[in-house]
Amino acid sequence: MPRKKTDIIVIGSGISGCTAALSAARCNKQVILLTKTADPMESNTRYAQGGIVTVGGEDTEDLLYRDIIRAGGGICNPEAVRIVSREARRAVYGFLIDEVGVAFTKRDDGSYHFTREAAHSRRRILHHLDMTGLEIQRKLIARVKENGNISLLPNHTAIDLITTHHNSKNPLLKYKKNLCLGVFVLDNRTGEVKTLLADATVIATGGVGRLYQHTTNPECATGDGISMAYRAWAEVANMEYVQFHPTKLYTEEGTSFLISEAVRGEGGILLNKNGDAFMERYSPQWKDLAPRDEVTRAIYNEMAETESTHVYLDIAHNKKSISIRERFPGIYEECRRHKIDIETEPIPVVPGEHYFCGGILIDGFGRTTLRGLYAVGEASCSGVHGANRLASVSLLEGLVFGLKAGKAAVRPKINRLYFKDIADWEYPTSVKNTENDPLLTLQDWNNLKTTMWNYVGIIRTETRLTRAVSELRNLYSRITDYYRDSYLTRAKIELRNGIIVAQCIAQFAKRNRKTIGSHYVTEPE
Ligand code: SIN
Repeated sequence: MPRKKTDIIVIGSGISGCTAALSAARCNKQVILLTKTADPMESNTRYAQGGIVTVGGEDTEDLLYRDIIRAGGGICNPEAVRIVSREARRAVYGFLIDEVGVAFTKRDDGSYHFTREAAHSRRRILHHLDMTGLEIQRKLIARVKENGNISLLPNHTAIDLITTHHNSKNPLLKYKKNLCLGVFVLDNRTGEVKTLLADATVIATGGVGRLYQHTTNPECATGDGISMAYRAWAEVANMEYVQFHPTKLYTEEGTSFLISEAVRGEGGILLNKNGDAFMERYSPQWKDLAPRDEVTRAIYNEMAETESTHVYLDIAHNKKSISIRERFPGIYEECRRHKIDIETEPIPVVPGEHYFCGGILIDGFGRTTLRGLYAVGEASCSGVHGANRLASVSLLEGLVFGLKAGKAAVRPKINRLYFKDIADWEYPTSVKNTENDPLLTLQDWNNLKTTMWNYVGIIRTETRLTRAVSELRNLYSRITDYYRDSYLTRAKIELRNGIIVAQCIAQFAKRNRKTIGSHYVTEPE
């Protein structure tokens, strides 16, 4: 059974994972960066369109701080917000631009072009056309690949964290603090389970979008890291705060393609089925650039009142002020594929799950409550986003905390003698050598996603949440039996992770009866 020791393991290859790996490697540590996808480019980061916040020209650290706090509905962690506001300039210019080589869009005079998104009081968002995430991801993966201290391990799915309390053969370790010593991983291609041991493990597995029927997230966003950390008894927080993006492209067959908020930042206006610009009625001050949760609920309401499956986003009216095709080439092309010409007609849009504000609780260095375990990016909860994330702060948080956690993770000296008491992975003797039935997985996912969308979605009620908790409990018991019954696959691991995180979200949401930010609770009239 393959067993490997290294200094640091990073799970996940988006902006926070790559940054943490590069930051640790800079201190001359050996890092294994693993990802369940065959292509390490595949992550939530890759699909980010709008951009990354920094402190722009006429901007200040304090203004950014205030905007983030205001969007967060009063429950942001001020210390964490201070960290990202303070470090924004250095992390973006010093690391991302100067060291990693990310090219952001410039004006004709060579200065950077700052775009604007909802609830920002300044233009402060750097972008690469409308494909910011793709540019960042490409450059980061290139730096990771050329770094001699980092071994990239694609096609490996993390199964469970290894801890002294869960996995050591030495029963006396129960009397000491629980310690994370690494992770069991499945080689997706061979089915072999490997034991990876390390002084520090960093979770950077991204969000939970695929737990919902409608999402802007790619298929890999199944809450894996949060679920693993929860099972290993690390604390999770703010799990009820799920952010829905107001404008996902609407097509009859369904798509996860996002229509960036930057389209509204550049003058796009939301229209209902009857062609009315409705945002003024909901937010006279901010109109179409109101905070995300407000716009999402306004759309939800308009769709209900006009009995429509979607609303429209019109940027065509602004074609005299901006070159739409040049500013939004990705959106232009994708819409054209769906036979929508955004230069002459409005784009059909609908809300979808977009970002998870909760996750594994961390401090200002990315440390979780489980020693030896770190978390960064969307899988973590630093408290920066509170109940509602301000646009384009997610890439910044992943970057800043990736740098910090990578550095912090090189410090602890775990006693490697603990490693010898860790047993390798064993299947329970009851496991049957049966073929996995993909239809079982598919049906379980369908149940999970519709329950989350209808009962733990944009508008929540006590009755819906009570139903969700009970249905998810039943589903959990079925999925656990299925999980234990036969050999592991990536799909089964994801399903088990998904149901555990779904239950956490539903339970947190049910316990919190107060509407704040993205957690909106009401009773139907
Ligand atoms: C967008 O481009 O609208 C997404 C930006 C974000 O999620 O912060």
